[in-house]
Amino acid sequence: MSPFHYLHGELHAESVPLSKIAEEFGSPCYVYSRAYLEQRFTEYTEALEGQDHLVCYAVKANSNIAVLNVLARLGAGFDIVSSGELERVLAAGGKPDRIVFSGVGKTAAEMQRALEVGIHCFNVESEAELERLNSVAEAMNVKAPISIRVNPDVDAKTHPYISTGLRDNKFGIDIERAPEVYRRAASLPNIKIKGVDCHIGSQLIDTSPFLDALERVLKLVEVLASMNITISHLDLGGGLGVRYRDETAPDTGDYIRAIRAKLGERKVTLMFEPGRSIAANAGVLLTRVEYLKLNEHKNFAIIDAAMNDMIRPALYSAWMDLMAVQPREDGVSRSYDFVGPVCETGDFLAKDRELCIEEGDLLALASSGAYGFTMSSNYNSRGRAAEVMVDGDKCHLIRARETVTDLMRGETLLP
Ligand code: LLP
Repeated sequence: MSPFHYLHGELHAESVPLSKIAEEFGSPCYVYSRAYLEQRFTEYTEALEGQDHLVCYAVKANSNIAVLNVLARLGAGFDIVSSGELERVLAAGGKPDRIVFSGVGKTAAEMQRALEVGIHCFNVESEAELERLNSVAEAMNVKAPISIRVNPDVDAKTHPYISTGLRDNKFGIDIERAPEVYRRAASLPNIKIKGVDCHIGSQLIDTSPFLDALERVLKLVEVLASMNITISHLDLGGGLGVRYRDETAPDTGDYIRAIRAKLGERKVTLMFEPGRSIAANAGVLLTRVEYLKLNEHKNFAIIDAAMNDMIRPALYSAWMDLMAVQPREDGVSRSYDFVGPVCETGDFLAKDRELCIEEGDLLALASSGAYGFTMSSNYNSRGRAAEVMVDGDKCHLIRARETVTDLMRGETLLP
């Protein structure tokens, strides 16, 4: 159930009225629900009971250390893609041996730091990366734990002749080539093979491609067994979709049960890297109407949040719900484009939405807990928004609004 609900004519986050949060912390402001984050994470772990597992929350979705800490307290692992994310997880109390390191561009310094702290596994995305990791581990006199991220080509059934295109794919290694890469990995003295990894995409509403991917990964595991290469974990990545508008989002428990059924009695640790399904609907972006600009053909509501705060609508034409925090019972309802103060035509958060609003009204952009703040920028020298976590009837500032001093930190004038 959504933690954002109307009570006495006002949108609340858990038990806290959003107007109170705006009053205390200003706007724009991200608001997250602790209970919802916990609930969505626990749906994974409960469905995995009786099965060795590790659920590694994808830090890129929402990397605030308070969010990471809430999940770490539940025993979460973490999927990281940079040393920045690694340090966040450590600062949040995440256990190093529950971290997996994904991403196509890991630097030697990042590898070294991850080896120092002792992460669970590197998800290796190319042969060149494998060689570099071996050298870094050799210099440190340790063995680097790895899985190879394979591209299981789950669309190949419908498009069987696109394999040359696959070589151009930035992510992972073509599953057909994987046995050879594993053979090479097994021959490297400072590499220790742990698993197979795949991540086939994000915001999947239909779970059958995950099952197809697993089937292919299981075939690979058999091939590897015949080469005397034993796999102790399967990492199926993230990607479970959520409801933004009217999608019927897959149920986490159903998804996990289907995966477990396909896995059968095989003795491996199952791993997942969910981001969006845990964080998206745990958050809203709270914003205030600055001006109404009524034109003959189009009405604009100029709000204090902009594309620098939330880029999904501008970047992906993503549709995100926009709700009045204190809906008006009387007044004129009009259709508006909700645009920010940034000097770009693409600066909008919602288009053609019918709402009854006045200057100064508060709005909440729904489903903003994932890929919201983490993708925000300082474009137009706008300080990034504050972040607040609600916990029952309490709310905590978990990131202060950026100040002008923050914006110029590290910059200097010429002598
Ligand atoms: N693991 C890997 C290796 C990934 O690349 C991703 C997401 C995840 C896990 C988490 O996937 P999720 O469960 O969140 O779908 N900015 C885009 C989404 C980009 C996803 C990138 N990779 C958006 O706002 O829709």
